[in-house]
Amino acid sequence: MSFSRLCDVDVRGKRVLVRADLNVPQDDAGAITDDTRIRASLPGIRDALARGAAVMVTSHLGRPTEGEWKAEDSLAPIARRLGELLGRDVPLVRDWVDGGAWHDALAPGDLVVLENCRINKGEKKDDDALARKMAKLCDVYVNDAFGTAHRAEATTHGIARHAPIACAGPLMAAELDALTRALAAPARPLVAIVAGSKVSTKLTILRALAERVDTLIVGGGIANTFMLAAGGRIGKSLAEPDLAGEARAIVAQFPGKVPVTLDVVCAKAFAADANASVKDVADVANDDLILDIGPRTTEMLAGIVAGAGTIVWNGPVGVFEFDAFASGTRALAHAIAASRAFSIAGGGDTIAAINKFGVADRIGYISTAGGAFLEFLEGKTLPAVAILQQRAAG
Ligand code: 3PG
Repeated sequence: MSFSRLCDVDVRGKRVLVRADLNVPQDDAGAITDDTRIRASLPGIRDALARGAAVMVTSHLGRPTEGEWKAEDSLAPIARRLGELLGRDVPLVRDWVDGGAWHDALAPGDLVVLENCRINKGEKKDDDALARKMAKLCDVYVNDAFGTAHRAEATTHGIARHAPIACAGPLMAAELDALTRALAAPARPLVAIVAGSKVSTKLTILRALAERVDTLIVGGGIANTFMLAAGGRIGKSLAEPDLAGEARAIVAQFPGKVPVTLDVVCAKAFAADANASVKDVADVANDDLILDIGPRTTEMLAGIVAGAGTIVWNGPVGVFEFDAFASGTRALAHAIAASRAFSIAGGGDTIAAINKFGVADRIGYISTAGGAFLEFLEGKTLPAVAILQQRAAG
């Protein structure tokens, strides 16, 4: 994948506008509950500052109404956190699109945060006039927001068309390098784990991955639909019977690629303290809820993972938040960590599981993205990446 990288651009004395994805979770009082994305954006910012640039950083936060500034949409807590992490004051500029005194005063080594870009009218629709104004603010545009790369918005796409130089920041580059390594020319066997509650939300990913992988492990509600498709019993478990045909078609088209669930862990209620019982799929009762994979299935899947050359992981295979139903996901997480394969993981639940089971430092690459990660797996073109490639091609 060919695009310019910040590390190859001379930024000395230049005004650099970084589009980061600082869309972090907050509690009801606005306090940041996970600053992973802010930390992940630091290397690009530090690099540009260290090489003598004046740096402006912007991001979206949530999905505010355009044209209406509201305190809860403000990047103020993010600018504060950035300041703490960098050990310096980081001013926040509220109305920034037209430049002004704050912009005239920018000097090498300065760092400012530009308020939530989605407050600007035209951002979501990738308005060209807005994008041109933004592009005028900088000599170098850096897209380091892989998490938002599936959105064609003024700060992720339009600005990249008009800025004098448009390049990828180190986080964007690392994400694309890792995904390309996993999917473009992977070390075989390539094993994908796709789990989650619904086949419908991941059907295109399942289809796209089934084409490319050697083994497609399905989990959660998705696995239930596959079990149903194979004529198995799933009791009152979460499933989408109307998509059983789609599941059957994938299995028929790619024989042997989707391992069959052998046993499961069931309960009569969805609760942390519910009694867990291990059953063969044939023994699942009508009032059972499947909440995890069973030990025989776990062992089989761990064996597949152990022999993999590359692993792509999205989604926990059980209700790992409840200890009684965490075994399958825990064992798989440890098997991935122990495997010699290059592994890449993405998605909020997957990262929560990785952190819970303490294997983060043994996963090859952990994506900061949710939707963009999934769209890449689907084989879709990410507009923010496509425009960087076009610019690099001249
Ligand atoms: C994310 O959290 O997935 C990204 O920041 C994109 O946010 P969005 O879905 O509001 O565009």
